Amino acid sequence: MSASLRVAVLCSRVRVEEKYIFQALEKRSVAYDHIDDRLATFDMDNAAVWQKYAAVLERSISFTSGLYALRMLNAMGIPTVNTAEVAATCGDKLLTSLALAKAGVPQPRFVTALSGESALQAMEEMGYPVVLKPVIGSWGRMVTKLNDRDAAEAVIEHRETLGGPLHNVFYIQEYIEKPGRDIRAFVVGDQTITAIYRKSPHWITNTARGGKGEVCPVTPELNEICTRAAQAVGGGVLAIDLFEDPQRGLLVNEVNHTMEFHTTYPLTGVDIPGYIVDYLLAVARGEKVPQ
Ligand SMILES: Nc1ncnc2c1ncn2[C@@H]1O[C@H](COP(=O)(O)OP(=O)(O)O)[C@@H](O)[C@H]1O
Ligand SMILES: [Mg+2]
Repeated sequence: MSASLRVAVLCSRVRVEEKYIFQALEKRSVAYDHIDDRLATFDMDNAAVWQKYAAVLERSISFTSGLYALRMLNAMGIPTVNTAEVAATCGDKLLTSLALAKAGVPQPRFVTALSGESALQAMEEMGYPVVLKPVIGSWGRMVTKLNDRDAAEAVIEHRETLGGPLHNVFYIQEYIEKPGRDIRAFVVGDQTITAIYRKSPHWITNTARGGKGEVCPVTPELNEICTRAAQAVGGGVLAIDLFEDPQRGLLVNEVNHTMEFHTTYPLTGVDIPGYIVDYLLAVARGEKVPQ
Protein backbone atom coordinates (compact mmCIF):
# COMPACT_ATOMS: atom_id res chain seq x y z
CA MET A 1 0.00 0.00 0.00
CA SER A 2 2.69 2.48 1.07
CA ALA A 3 5.64 0.76 -0.56
CA SER A 4 7.42 3.90 -1.72
CA LEU A 5 6.99 5.77 1.48
CA ARG A 6 9.33 5.62 4.48
CA VAL A 7 8.64 7.06 7.91
CA ALA A 8 10.64 7.26 11.13
CA VAL A 9 9.67 6.80 14.76
CA LEU A 10 11.86 8.86 17.05
CA CYS A 11 11.84 7.61 20.60
CA SER A 12 13.87 7.06 23.73
CA ARG A 13 13.35 3.80 25.56
CA VAL A 14 11.00 1.56 23.58
CA ARG A 15 7.91 1.35 25.78
CA VAL A 16 4.97 -0.93 25.16
CA GLU A 17 3.32 1.93 23.21
CA GLU A 18 6.20 2.07 20.74
CA LYS A 19 6.05 -1.71 20.31
CA TYR A 20 2.35 -1.40 19.41
CA ILE A 21 3.19 1.40 16.97
CA PHE A 22 5.89 -0.71 15.28
CA GLN A 23 3.39 -3.57 14.99
CA ALA A 24 0.81 -1.25 13.40
CA LEU A 25 3.41 -0.07 10.88
CA GLU A 26 4.40 -3.64 10.07
CA LYS A 27 0.77 -4.69 9.71
CA ARG A 28 0.39 -1.99 7.06
CA SER A 29 3.69 -2.97 5.36
CA VAL A 30 5.08 0.52 5.89
CA ALA A 31 8.86 0.92 5.67
CA TYR A 32 10.07 2.60 8.83
CA ASP A 33 13.17 3.29 10.89
CA HIS A 34 13.23 3.35 14.64
CA ILE A 35 15.57 6.15 15.69
CA ASP A 36 16.85 6.53 19.24
CA ASP A 37 16.71 10.19 20.23
CA ARG A 38 19.83 9.73 22.38
CA LEU A 39 21.84 8.80 19.27
CA ALA A 40 20.26 11.14 16.71
CA THR A 41 21.95 14.24 15.32
CA PHE A 42 20.36 17.01 13.28
CA ASP A 43 22.54 18.85 10.79
CA MET A 44 20.94 21.48 8.59
CA ASP A 45 23.82 21.02 6.09
CA ASN A 46 23.03 17.34 5.88
CA ALA A 47 19.25 17.44 5.95
CA ALA A 48 19.02 14.61 3.37
CA VAL A 49 19.61 12.14 6.20
CA TRP A 50 16.17 13.08 7.51
CA GLN A 51 14.51 14.18 4.29
CA LYS A 52 14.28 10.59 3.14
CA TYR A 53 11.39 10.29 5.59
CA ALA A 54 7.96 11.35 4.41
CA ALA A 55 7.06 11.99 8.06
CA VAL A 56 8.46 11.45 11.55
CA LEU A 57 6.49 10.32 14.59
CA GLU A 58 7.96 11.83 17.75
CA ARG A 59 7.67 9.65 20.88
CA SER A 60 10.49 10.96 23.07
CA ILE A 61 10.06 10.52 26.80
CA SER A 62 11.83 13.81 27.44
CA PHE A 63 9.68 16.79 26.51
CA THR A 64 12.75 18.94 25.84
CA SER A 65 14.46 16.37 23.58
CA GLY A 66 11.25 15.82 21.65
CA LEU A 67 10.59 19.52 21.25
CA TYR A 68 14.06 20.35 19.95
CA ALA A 69 14.05 17.35 17.61
CA LEU A 70 10.72 18.52 16.20
CA ARG A 71 12.04 22.05 15.75
CA MET A 72 15.01 20.75 13.77
CA LEU A 73 12.85 18.41 11.68
CA ASN A 74 10.26 21.07 10.91
CA ALA A 75 13.07 23.49 9.98
CA MET A 76 14.27 20.87 7.47
CA GLY A 77 10.75 20.78 6.05
CA ILE A 78 9.89 17.34 7.38
CA PRO A 79 6.27 16.82 8.45
CA THR A 80 6.04 15.55 12.02
CA VAL A 81 3.40 14.15 14.34
CA ASN A 82 2.96 16.28 16.28
CA THR A 83 4.37 19.56 15.04
CA ALA A 84 6.97 21.46 17.07
CA GLU A 85 4.43 24.19 17.69
CA VAL A 86 1.87 21.77 19.10
CA ALA A 87 4.52 20.15 21.32
CA ALA A 88 5.64 23.55 22.60
CA THR A 89 2.07 24.45 23.53
CA CYS A 90 1.06 21.12 25.06
CA GLY A 91 4.32 20.64 26.96
CA ASP A 92 3.70 23.83 28.90
CA LYS A 93 0.55 23.99 31.03
CA LEU A 94 0.39 27.76 30.91
CA LEU A 95 0.67 27.89 27.10
CA THR A 96 -2.01 25.20 26.89
CA SER A 97 -4.33 27.20 29.15
CA LEU A 98 -3.75 30.32 27.06
CA ALA A 99 -4.55 28.44 23.85
CA LEU A 100 -7.72 26.98 25.40
CA ALA A 101 -8.75 30.42 26.67
CA LYS A 102 -8.21 31.96 23.24
CA ALA A 103 -10.45 29.31 21.68
CA GLY A 104 -13.07 29.66 24.42
CA VAL A 105 -12.72 26.05 25.60
CA PRO A 106 -14.01 25.65 29.19
CA GLN A 107 -11.23 25.03 31.72
CA PRO A 108 -10.59 25.49 35.44
CA ARG A 109 -9.75 29.03 36.49
CA PHE A 110 -6.00 29.63 36.49
CA VAL A 111 -3.72 32.44 37.64
CA THR A 112 -0.01 32.87 37.04
CA ALA A 113 2.39 34.63 39.40
CA LEU A 114 6.13 35.19 39.07
CA SER A 115 7.23 35.47 42.69
CA GLY A 116 6.42 33.71 45.94
CA GLU A 117 4.84 36.83 47.37
CA SER A 118 2.45 37.40 44.47
CA ALA A 119 1.73 33.65 44.28
CA LEU A 120 0.58 33.66 47.90
CA GLN A 121 -1.60 36.68 47.25
CA ALA A 122 -3.15 34.99 44.20
CA MET A 123 -3.87 31.83 46.20
CA GLU A 124 -5.50 33.82 49.01
CA GLU A 125 -7.68 35.61 46.48
CA MET A 126 -8.64 32.40 44.66
CA GLY A 127 -9.51 30.67 47.96
CA TYR A 128 -8.24 27.30 49.19
CA PRO A 129 -7.87 24.59 48.15
CA VAL A 130 -5.79 25.54 45.14
CA VAL A 131 -3.58 23.39 42.93
CA LEU A 132 -0.04 24.48 42.17
CA LYS A 133 1.74 22.85 39.24
CA PRO A 134 5.05 23.09 37.45
CA VAL A 135 4.30 24.49 33.98
CA ILE A 136 6.37 21.63 32.52
CA GLY A 137 5.93 18.13 33.90
CA SER A 138 3.92 14.93 33.71
CA TRP A 139 2.82 11.81 35.58
CA GLY A 140 1.42 14.07 38.32
CA ARG A 141 4.88 15.00 39.55
CA MET A 142 4.93 18.07 41.81
CA VAL A 143 1.22 18.68 41.21
CA THR A 144 0.35 20.00 44.66
CA LYS A 145 -2.96 20.64 46.42
CA LEU A 146 -2.72 23.41 48.96
CA ASN A 147 -5.51 23.40 51.52
CA ASP A 148 -4.54 26.46 53.53
CA ARG A 149 -2.14 29.35 53.88
CA ASP A 150 0.34 27.36 56.00
CA ALA A 151 0.74 24.76 53.27
CA ALA A 152 0.99 27.46 50.61
CA GLU A 153 3.74 29.29 52.49
CA ALA A 154 5.67 26.07 53.03
CA VAL A 155 5.61 25.06 49.37
CA ILE A 156 6.44 28.56 48.17
CA GLU A 157 9.43 28.68 50.51
CA HIS A 158 10.64 25.30 49.25
CA ARG A 159 10.35 26.45 45.66
CA GLU A 160 12.20 29.70 46.36
CA THR A 161 14.97 27.93 48.26
CA LEU A 162 15.44 25.16 45.71
CA GLY A 163 15.66 27.70 42.91
CA GLY A 164 15.77 26.75 39.22
CA PRO A 165 14.50 29.01 36.44
CA LEU A 166 10.96 27.63 36.31
CA HIS A 167 10.40 27.47 40.06
CA ASN A 168 9.41 31.12 40.06
CA VAL A 169 6.65 30.55 37.53
CA PHE A 170 3.66 29.74 39.73
CA TYR A 171 0.79 28.21 37.78
CA ILE A 172 -2.16 28.17 40.16
CA GLN A 173 -5.44 26.46 39.38
CA GLU A 174 -8.70 26.28 41.28
CA TYR A 175 -9.30 22.84 42.77
CA ILE A 176 -12.14 21.01 41.05
CA GLU A 177 -14.28 18.74 43.25
CA LYS A 178 -14.32 15.95 40.70
CA PRO A 179 -16.25 12.74 41.41
CA GLY A 180 -13.28 10.49 42.30
CA ARG A 181 -12.18 10.35 38.69
CA ASP A 182 -11.15 12.37 35.69
CA ILE A 183 -11.42 11.63 31.98
CA ARG A 184 -8.58 10.89 29.57
CA ALA A 185 -9.77 11.16 25.96
CA PHE A 186 -7.79 10.44 22.80
CA VAL A 187 -8.14 12.65 19.76
CA VAL A 188 -6.65 11.76 16.39
CA GLY A 189 -7.20 14.43 13.76
CA ASP A 190 -10.79 15.58 14.07
CA GLN A 191 -12.15 12.58 15.95
CA THR A 192 -12.28 11.55 19.61
CA ILE A 193 -11.47 7.87 19.13
CA THR A 194 -11.87 6.65 22.70
CA ALA A 195 -11.82 7.69 26.34
CA ILE A 196 -11.36 6.29 29.81
CA TYR A 197 -12.23 7.37 33.31
CA ARG A 198 -9.27 7.33 35.65
CA LYS A 199 -10.61 6.44 39.09
CA SER A 200 -8.69 6.85 42.28
CA PRO A 201 -9.32 7.38 45.97
CA HIS A 202 -6.48 9.95 45.70
CA TRP A 203 -7.21 13.34 44.13
CA ILE A 204 -4.34 12.72 41.67
CA THR A 205 -5.77 10.20 39.25
CA ASN A 206 -2.91 9.57 36.78
CA THR A 207 -2.58 5.86 35.97
CA ALA A 208 1.16 6.34 36.62
CA ARG A 209 0.08 7.17 40.19
CA GLY A 210 -2.30 4.28 40.71
CA GLY A 211 -5.47 5.55 39.00
CA LYS A 212 -7.56 2.70 37.57
CA GLY A 213 -8.95 2.91 34.05
CA GLU A 214 -12.59 2.31 33.14
CA VAL A 215 -14.24 2.71 29.77
CA CYS A 216 -15.81 6.15 29.32
CA PRO A 217 -18.39 6.53 26.55
CA VAL A 218 -17.56 9.17 23.95
CA THR A 219 -20.74 11.23 24.04
CA PRO A 220 -21.32 13.98 21.44
CA GLU A 221 -20.62 16.49 24.23
CA LEU A 222 -17.28 14.87 25.12
CA ASN A 223 -16.34 14.59 21.46
CA GLU A 224 -17.12 18.25 20.88
CA ILE A 225 -15.07 19.67 23.76
CA CYS A 226 -12.16 17.32 23.03
CA THR A 227 -11.97 18.13 19.34
CA ARG A 228 -12.20 21.84 20.17
CA ALA A 229 -9.39 21.47 22.71
CA ALA A 230 -7.27 19.57 20.18
CA GLN A 231 -7.85 22.23 17.55
CA ALA A 232 -7.05 24.98 20.06
CA VAL A 233 -3.52 23.64 20.52
CA GLY A 234 -2.97 23.04 16.79
CA GLY A 235 -4.36 19.53 16.25
CA GLY A 236 -2.77 16.13 15.68
CA VAL A 237 -2.55 13.06 17.91
CA LEU A 238 -3.46 14.24 21.39
CA ALA A 239 -4.74 13.12 24.77
CA ILE A 240 -7.09 15.45 26.58
CA ASP A 241 -7.51 15.41 30.37
CA LEU A 242 -10.91 16.59 31.55
CA PHE A 243 -12.70 17.13 34.83
CA GLU A 244 -16.42 16.77 35.46
CA ASP A 245 -17.28 19.87 37.46
CA PRO A 246 -20.54 19.43 39.42
CA GLN A 247 -21.84 22.84 38.22
CA ARG A 248 -20.05 23.64 34.97
CA GLY A 249 -19.83 20.19 33.42
CA LEU A 250 -16.76 19.23 31.41
CA LEU A 251 -13.61 21.32 31.83
CA VAL A 252 -10.35 20.66 30.00
CA ASN A 253 -7.43 20.33 32.40
CA GLU A 254 -4.56 19.77 29.99
CA VAL A 255 -3.60 18.39 26.59
CA ASN A 256 -0.79 15.84 26.14
CA HIS A 257 1.11 15.47 22.88
CA THR A 258 3.04 12.18 23.32
CA MET A 259 0.60 10.18 25.34
CA GLU A 260 0.94 6.74 26.80
CA PHE A 261 -1.91 4.34 26.07
CA HIS A 262 -0.92 0.99 27.57
CA THR A 263 -3.96 1.14 29.89
CA THR A 264 -6.50 2.44 27.38
CA TYR A 265 -5.68 0.21 24.41
CA PRO A 266 -6.39 -3.17 26.06
CA LEU A 267 -9.23 -1.74 28.14
CA THR A 268 -11.25 -0.17 25.32
CA GLY A 269 -10.09 -2.43 22.49
CA VAL A 270 -9.88 0.67 20.29
CA ASP A 271 -6.88 0.38 18.00
CA ILE A 272 -5.06 3.53 19.18
CA PRO A 273 -1.71 2.61 17.55
CA GLY A 274 -3.57 1.91 14.29
CA TYR A 275 -5.21 5.33 14.38
CA ILE A 276 -1.86 6.98 15.15
CA VAL A 277 -0.14 5.22 12.25
CA ASP A 278 -2.98 5.98 9.83
CA TYR A 279 -2.77 9.63 10.81
CA LEU A 280 1.02 9.59 10.40
CA LEU A 281 0.61 8.12 6.92
CA ALA A 282 -1.99 10.76 6.00
CA VAL A 283 0.49 13.44 7.11
CA ALA A 284 3.27 11.68 5.18
CA ARG A 285 1.14 11.75 2.01
CA GLY A 286 0.33 15.41 2.55
CA GLU A 287 -3.36 14.64 3.06
CA LYS A 288 -3.41 16.04 6.58
CA VAL A 289 -1.61 19.20 7.52
CA PRO A 290 -1.96 20.17 11.17
CA GLN A 291 -2.26 23.99 11.39
N1 LIG B 1 -7.31 21.68 39.46
C1 LIG B 1 -7.44 20.40 39.79
N2 LIG B 1 -8.51 19.97 40.49
C2 LIG B 1 -8.65 18.66 40.81
N3 LIG B 1 -7.77 17.70 40.48
C3 LIG B 1 -6.67 18.08 39.78
C4 LIG B 1 -6.46 19.43 39.40
N4 LIG B 1 -5.32 19.50 38.70
C5 LIG B 1 -4.83 18.26 38.64
N5 LIG B 1 -5.64 17.38 39.28
C6 LIG B 1 -5.38 15.92 39.41
O1 LIG B 1 -4.01 15.71 39.27
C7 LIG B 1 -3.72 14.95 38.07
C8 LIG B 1 -2.43 15.42 37.43
O2 LIG B 1 -2.55 16.77 37.04
P1 LIG B 1 -2.19 17.24 35.57
O3 LIG B 1 -2.49 18.70 35.49
O4 LIG B 1 -2.87 16.38 34.57
O5 LIG B 1 -0.61 17.05 35.54
P2 LIG B 1 0.31 15.96 34.78
O6 LIG B 1 0.76 16.65 33.55
O7 LIG B 1 1.44 15.72 35.72
O8 LIG B 1 -0.54 14.76 34.47
C9 LIG B 1 -4.96 15.11 37.23
O9 LIG B 1 -5.14 14.02 36.36
C10 LIG B 1 -6.06 15.17 38.28
O10 LIG B 1 -6.40 13.89 38.76
MG1 LIG C 1 -2.27 14.90 33.17
